Amino acid sequence: MCGIISYYGKRDSVPFLINGLRRLEYRGYDSAGIALMKDGSIEAVKKAGKVDELEKKLKESPIKGSIGIAHTRWATHGEPSDINAHPHKDKTGKIFLIHNGIIENYSTIKEVLTRKGFQFKSQTDTEALVNLISDIYYADGLNFEQAVEAALNQVVGTYGIVAFCSDEPNKLVAARHGSPLVLGVGKDEYFIASDASPIVEHTRNVIYLDEGEIITINEKGHSIRSMKDDVIVNKETTEIEFSIEEIEKGEFPHFMLKEIYEQVFTIKDTMRGRINPIDGTAHLGGIEHQMSRIQNAHRIYITACGTSWHAGLIGKYLIEEYAGIPVHVEYASEFRYRKPIVDSNTVVIGISQSGETADTLAAIRKAKDFGALTVGICNVVGSSVARETDCGIYTHAGPEIGVASTKAFTSQVTVLFLLSLCFGRNKNLSSQTGKKYATALFNIGEHVKTILDGSDSILEVAKSTVKADNFLYLGRGLNFPVALEGALKLKEISYIHAEGYPAAEMKHGPIALIDEKMPVVCLAPHDKTFQKVLSNIQEVKARKGVIITVTDKRTPELEKISDYIIDVPSTHPKVFPILSSVSLQLLAYHLAVLRDCDIDQPRNLAKSVTVE
Ligand code: F6R
Repeated sequence: MCGIISYYGKRDSVPFLINGLRRLEYRGYDSAGIALMKDGSIEAVKKAGKVDELEKKLKESPIKGSIGIAHTRWATHGEPSDINAHPHKDKTGKIFLIHNGIIENYSTIKEVLTRKGFQFKSQTDTEALVNLISDIYYADGLNFEQAVEAALNQVVGTYGIVAFCSDEPNKLVAARHGSPLVLGVGKDEYFIASDASPIVEHTRNVIYLDEGEIITINEKGHSIRSMKDDVIVNKETTEIEFSIEEIEKGEFPHFMLKEIYEQVFTIKDTMRGRINPIDGTAHLGGIEHQMSRIQNAHRIYITACGTSWHAGLIGKYLIEEYAGIPVHVEYASEFRYRKPIVDSNTVVIGISQSGETADTLAAIRKAKDFGALTVGICNVVGSSVARETDCGIYTHAGPEIGVASTKAFTSQVTVLFLLSLCFGRNKNLSSQTGKKYATALFNIGEHVKTILDGSDSILEVAKSTVKADNFLYLGRGLNFPVALEGALKLKEISYIHAEGYPAAEMKHGPIALIDEKMPVVCLAPHDKTFQKVLSNIQEVKARKGVIITVTDKRTPELEKISDYIIDVPSTHPKVFPILSSVSLQLLAYHLAVLRDCDIDQPRNLAKSVTVE
């Protein structure tokens, strides 16, 4: 949610900043801007639209400077426009600021400053903050970093910010509260960004800022202070764990497609060193020391948002079956604002690809306050969820750039499978059943490959249904969350309205929508739900719905009743949800391409939702 990128060094910073904005564009892409310091003065260029628009404008009116800040925006306060784009400047035109997050008390700040004669040009909360800094700086005799800190002390809300002031040239100040920031430490140069992706090609040495920390960079180097504890903190650099290739599209037309294809090995990476098909066990090092507390919990909450919440629903089915512990799955945004029954006998599992989703983090913090044991399942190493939970499991899916989550989802589900296998084997799952389960999981990559090889046949289904305005997705048991996730994937990237339902619930309402124009995707694995799903398909057929069946075994009945069949390899029934999810990702992808949609940057969306 908004991308922040900054450079401090000796080079012309424009190429780095523009390239960095492109890398961070997945976080927000409605406008972009850049401000550069040169010879003690600051110039800025801002433009509504994507980074390409900003680059065009920069070609028309170039600016140069070796200290620079740049931003790509996902609008919260004020429409996407040149004026509302960051960086924002104060009334003197000497202080510039980029911001990710929300200043909740911005209208009070604006009111106070307006009475003092400040005028505001944009509708943003950020302009209130930069002028508050200015008000303090030019009145109180503080140096720039002290003024920034004093202003931040008056702010209610969340922020990752970077600011500079032409009255103190050669200084860059950045701070974090609720929105991530990473400092890259190069040779005689520094980089600050919302994540490490723009930094990795320049240095692998980074410092992840913790909550309440402020960095000052000047000719002498960098220093980090904890604003909370009022002390200087010495932090060692850590190494970025991914390579440049992992954040490049390579030969794929879209990141989303690349990430769908990567599932052949990302699911394996999630299991690497954790599963043993020979004795049918799983081993999760990150939670091992807390396993007895987890297994003896009275209840488990799984909290997450969006796709991660869907993974959580699959987790509920699995954990209740294998651990016999009641599991509640809650949207983090609901959990954080109600009174859930959470105590020291509760385990709260937060699932998040980015590890920075504001609601998920807040839910985890609340659970901690209530004395629960918190467990993180997340993809981004060193992220806030990873750092703030008591223990956790990384999904190891590698960087996910496409805004629509794909490989991160199947890796989250894989972790939940591993967790349930652990629970099961520690309880009463026999070694023979464990072996079957583990072997099916272990071999999943080759089955994903089979699905990808059949992508063209899914494209044909997409071609036949591309004109539809609505889709319905139906599934039972473990495949109900898959239906929800299939529908979410379709709506976010193709803008086709879609709903996921438990198959039997259809007749309690949604059936009214079915006519000959409505494609209905039916998840029909050959398991104990098969006959029931078949009956639901009959009900759809009787209303002339267009039936797209996803199955691991064609039967004469299915062939007769279905308009289209998407085949999934036949394996252990528990593995079907992962495989069918891959098919539904491809279906959504093909439909969106056929409709000429922006696959990696769908309208209105952003990855990593760091505002609530
Ligand atoms: C959908 C999608 C979102 C995220 C949600 C949570 O494709 O990506 O629904 O799943 O914003 O994000 P994380 O998992 O980063 O907490």
